[in-house]
Amino acid sequence: MSGRLASEYSAWKKLQQIYDSEHSKLVLKDLFAQDPERFSKFSKEYNSTHGPSTTLLLDFSKNLITPEILKTLLDLAKEADVESFRDKMFAGEHINTSEDRAVLHIALRNFGGFKIAEAGADEVSGVLSHIKEFTEAVRSGAWKGYTDKTINTIVNIGIGGSDLGPVMVTEALKPYAKRDLTAHFVSNIDGTHLAETLRLCDPETTLFIIASKTFTTQETITNAESARDWFLGTAKDKAHVAKHFVALSTNTKAVTAFGISESNMFQFWDWVGGRYSLWSAIGLSIALVIGYENFEALLQGAHGMDRHFTETPLENNLPVLLAVIGVWYNDFYGAQTHALLPYDQYLHKFADYFQQGDMESNGKSITKGGQRVDYQTGPIIWGAAGTNGQHSFYQLVHQGTKIIPADFIAPATTHNPIASSKHHRILLSNFFAQPEALAFGKTEEQVREELGKNASEPLVKSKVFEGNRPSNSIMFPLLTPSTLGALVALYEHKIFVQGVIWGINSFGKRYKAIRG
Ligand code: F6P
Repeated sequence: MSGRLASEYSAWKKLQQIYDSEHSKLVLKDLFAQDPERFSKFSKEYNSTHGPSTTLLLDFSKNLITPEILKTLLDLAKEADVESFRDKMFAGEHINTSEDRAVLHIALRNFGGFKIAEAGADEVSGVLSHIKEFTEAVRSGAWKGYTDKTINTIVNIGIGGSDLGPVMVTEALKPYAKRDLTAHFVSNIDGTHLAETLRLCDPETTLFIIASKTFTTQETITNAESARDWFLGTAKDKAHVAKHFVALSTNTKAVTAFGISESNMFQFWDWVGGRYSLWSAIGLSIALVIGYENFEALLQGAHGMDRHFTETPLENNLPVLLAVIGVWYNDFYGAQTHALLPYDQYLHKFADYFQQGDMESNGKSITKGGQRVDYQTGPIIWGAAGTNGQHSFYQLVHQGTKIIPADFIAPATTHNPIASSKHHRILLSNFFAQPEALAFGKTEEQVREELGKNASEPLVKSKVFEGNRPSNSIMFPLLTPSTLGALVALYEHKIFVQGVIWGINSFGKRYKAIRG
């Protein structure tokens, strides 16, 4: 984020030379054959040193890299000053230069590790106490609706970062959910989204959470007003709004003008970017669904990863490794996209979540210094849960003409060991088989051997997999709140590192929404 063009760095130039002279010789099958220690050299285990015990294994051995390439990629990170920009972020310096703001989602989960001098950072624990108190009141039934009934339904009304994080996390941590509290999420301006949701709600037992950092977003305010009209259609008296509407926002004036009292407003600060806000008051719906203790464990898991990111040398630093390997494909191999492929149904919204997290952060073409870049920045992020993707787009990933770097993500054990974990064993065997097949492919000889002598030539050719397609694999023991926290923080910091290398402001304002 120095504002310099990445292509001016000497490590960048060296990487270009290496790519030009060596990429045709980088064959995963050969790289593994030449070095039996490749897996242990190119894999790292993360064990939290803080909070609930959390482990992640990153296997990056199936990438088109050698020790020299990895070293040069890490040199690039050093030359781009990743460490010093990281330290500036954690100290609360205004690294979001276009808006002159600090970037402090890490302060929302700071369990004592970092000293942050920024107004509001010392108010985080007060808001967490407010969330805890409110969450416990609703979940215990102490918080009553206007007819004295217990709340059994929550509707989060928000969009973008005020929607995607809560949706992704409440899905991911369903095993921890209070099952008799139903959560809905309304985001789209299309009235169908709200109307279909309200059909499932009872005004006497529904709590609306209006989640909007600015409290001016057209979709959210229109949906909130229509929800309030629907509620008052039954409740009649405006005074009843107090028991059924709360707000998550930085804009007190607009919240109170809407009719929500300040005591029912959960505060956050302008240094929390929308796409990094699930850790803030925006996470209220998460805390309501999984309980405050689990919400805190999620934050603790992220804090553990923050510590790893700040304390670990670059060569062992998981976010840095993911970032530089991504740059290798994005900028030298010309890969247009990056796939996130979780083999965990609970993570079925993970790719959607990081589609915003990554593409809104690094979808920029001007450096901090105002220059147009002459290289590629953020990749297109996409993906879906395995094994569904295998019956849809994996054909192109395996045998198409494009290079699609992918992250395979899976828990070693399942929350749902039905049929004596038979499902999970099958799921995992697919999880292991895909990166293997992508990397090593299948030759014509292998296909002939499998199909027998009588197989037709077109059939043989159609079954050949070229292989040499890169991927990372990430495994963890079980998808717990702290594991999810660490996983999300891992990707957040990966995005940060890539933004620093490309010299762009990953935290600047979004493009101005185009309205009809
Ligand atoms: O358009 C994207 C975005 O700016 C998000 O980052 C943000 O969370 C969302 O819009 C909604 O904004 P708000 O929370 O202010 O309603």
